Amino acid sequence: MNTSKPSLEALVEAGELDIEILHPGGLNITEELANLCGIGQGKHVLDVASGTGESACFLAERFGCKVVGVDASEVMVKRARRKARGRGLDIEFRIGDAHNLPFADDRFDAVISECTLSLLDKERAIREMVRVARRGGYVGIHDVCWKRNAPEKLKIKLEEIEGEKPETLEGWKKLFESSGLVEVVSLDRSYLLSEWIKDVKRKLGLLGQIKIFMKVFRRFGLKGCLCVMESERIFQGGYLGYAIVVGRKPE
Ligand SMILES: C[S@@+](CC[C@H](N)C(=O)[O-])C[C@H]1O[C@@H](n2cnc3c(N)ncnc32)[C@H](O)[C@@H]1O
Repeated sequence: MNTSKPSLEALVEAGELDIEILHPGGLNITEELANLCGIGQGKHVLDVASGTGESACFLAERFGCKVVGVDASEVMVKRARRKARGRGLDIEFRIGDAHNLPFADDRFDAVISECTLSLLDKERAIREMVRVARRGGYVGIHDVCWKRNAPEKLKIKLEEIEGEKPETLEGWKKLFESSGLVEVVSLDRSYLLSEWIKDVKRKLGLLGQIKIFMKVFRRFGLKGCLCVMESERIFQGGYLGYAIVVGRKPE
C-alpha cells in the first residue's frame, strides 16, 4: 500500500473517498464476473482487496455464497466488517496482503479481485489467487487496461503517480495463461471507465469534488493537487480501457 504519496489510490486506501464501490461498472460488473466464475449458492468465494466490502455483501446476498474478504487496509477492513454486520451478513473480513494470501492451498471455488491487480506485483498476486483456488475453480478479475496505442510516457506517468501498471487486454490474458490458468476469457468493457468517472463526479457534486481537493491540499500540498489532476487526465485521456479476465485452475 502506498498512502504517503499523493494519488487517487492513496485517498482510497486511507478511506478518504466517500464512495462505496471503488470500481467501474458498479455491482453489474461484479455480477457479470460472478456469473463467469460460476459463483452460486453455497460456493466459497474469496474477494482479494475487498475494499469497503460492498461487493462481498452483494455476492452473499445475491448468490447465497460464503464470502471471505481480504484487504491490506485496516480502515477498509473495519468499514467492511461494520457494513456486513449492519446487513446481518456472516462475512469474514481479514487484513492481509494479496501477495501473500493468509489462506491454505486449494480452498476456494472462486477467487476474485476487482480493480486492484494493476496496483500490485501482478504475477505474484495472480499466482497467489491461483494457489488458494481449488482445482477446477475460477480466478477472475476486472481491471484497467491500456489501449494498444497508449504512449509509453503515459504508462510511466501513471506508474509514477498511482503505482499502477495495467496490461493491455491481450497482456492480461497472457498473464493468466502463463499463471497456469486454462479456458481464459478476456472481455473488453472499456466503455465502463468513462461512464464511471462521470458517475462518480455526478455523485460527488461540485462541493464533494472541492472537498476532496481540499483534503489532498491539506495532506500533500499544491504538488499533491497537481498529481491528482494529472492522474485524472490520464484516466480520462482515452488510452485506458477496462477488462474482465477469467480463467480456470486445471483439475
Ligand atoms: C481501487 S480499491 C478496490 C476495492 C474493491 N475491490 C472495489 O472494487 O470496490 C483497491 C483496494 O486494494 C487494497 N489494496 C491495495 N494493496 C493491497 C494489497 N497488497 N493487498 C490487499 N489489498 C490491497 C486497498 O486497500 C483498496 O481497498
